[in-house]
Amino acid sequence: MGFRHAAAALIAAAAGLSAAHAQDVAVGARKAIACQACHGLDGVSRLPEAPHLAGQPALYLERALRAYRAGERRNEVMSIAAKSLSDDDVRDLAAYFAAIQIEVKSPPK
Ligand code: HEC
Repeated sequence: MGFRHAAAALIAAAAGLSAAHAQDVAVGARKAIACQACHGLDGVSRLPEAPHLAGQPALYLERALRAYRAGERRNEVMSIAAKSLSDDDVRDLAAYFAAIQIEVKSPPK
């Protein structure tokens, strides 16, 4: 395969990925209603004991949800919240919360 073919294939693959990703984000936004009481629909936590989810890497969020679901990570509420999530739910929710853009400011000195 020549360079042009390789580049075209890569671009096509990337376009396919981002299309699937955008869809996951939209579906995840609807599913995230189940999480909003604690994590906020914008991924900014509403409870002192719940972590912010906005902008966390999708890979990390997926791992955390799978760990709760599998019982490898335990928490009174999250073990229950993650129990009935399908693999699609985990992917969509992770894609949604990861896609939220956050801005960070260092504390004043
Ligand atoms: C009743 C409140 C509540 C609800 C509802 C809830 N969570 Fe949580 N979530 C928590 C708390 C509290 C923690 C911290 C648990 C711990 O210490 O492990 C947490 C932790 C997490 C983490 C781990 C974050 C990290 O930084 O390690 C993820 C991911 C997560 N929740 C996703 C979700 C998703 C997705 C939903 C909706 C399907 C949801 N949660 C619903 C309270 C909630």
